[in-house]
Amino acid sequence: MSFVKFFLDTANVEEIRKVAEMGLLDGVTTNPSHAAKTGRPFKEVVTEICGICSGPVSAESISTDTEGMLAEAREVCSWAPNVVVKIPLIPEGIKAVRILAEEGIKTNVTLCFSPTQALLAAKAGATYISPFVGRLDDISTTGMDLVREIAQIYDNYAYDTEIIVASARGPQHVREAALTGADIVTMPYDAFTKLFNHPLTEVGLEKFLADWNAAGLQIL
Ligand code: E4P
Repeated sequence: MSFVKFFLDTANVEEIRKVAEMGLLDGVTTNPSHAAKTGRPFKEVVTEICGICSGPVSAESISTDTEGMLAEAREVCSWAPNVVVKIPLIPEGIKAVRILAEEGIKTNVTLCFSPTQALLAAKAGATYISPFVGRLDDISTTGMDLVREIAQIYDNYAYDTEIIVASARGPQHVREAALTGADIVTMPYDAFTKLFNHPLTEVGLEKFLADWNAAGLQIL
């Protein structure tokens, strides 16, 4: 049975730990901005995240040439068995993805904003593709349309590359990702917590507890 996987898009270990403790964490995606925000050495952070989350943990290369990306990819993969190398969607990156696929190293191709970019990543043998829906919405383009087109293209040719709905900003993106049948949605901690919210849940619980307490009932 397949199900939509929840990844956390952060390098904050406290946030990652909280979602892991709920049993709902399937993976983590970090990016250079997240890593910079921690103020800690990158290796230390990635290793700690991999100790909390046994699912795929994306760590991004920062070189923009193929050789540099390959060297960084091999290094970050040596830190833990569940590290996935995030590679930007540029020609040098796609070349690196092909070589890494042949070496059996998993890749997450990032900064994808078009269906044809996603096609390049799949043809190169990417493990994951990350279309950035929120950033497309920011420029008045419907980000989820991109996800739907990629899903159709990958389905047409039975590509194995999994779609990560990235740059998800809140419950609406998560809802649409699940409705579209995307494999994974990666979201900030704040967006994850908002998935629980519904005013009728809060009001309903308050009333149930008030009635219960007024009757003086007990379970234990
Ligand atoms: C993807 O893996 C990126 O880290 C991330 O989703 C970017 O999100 P943002 O557009 O909210 O920065």
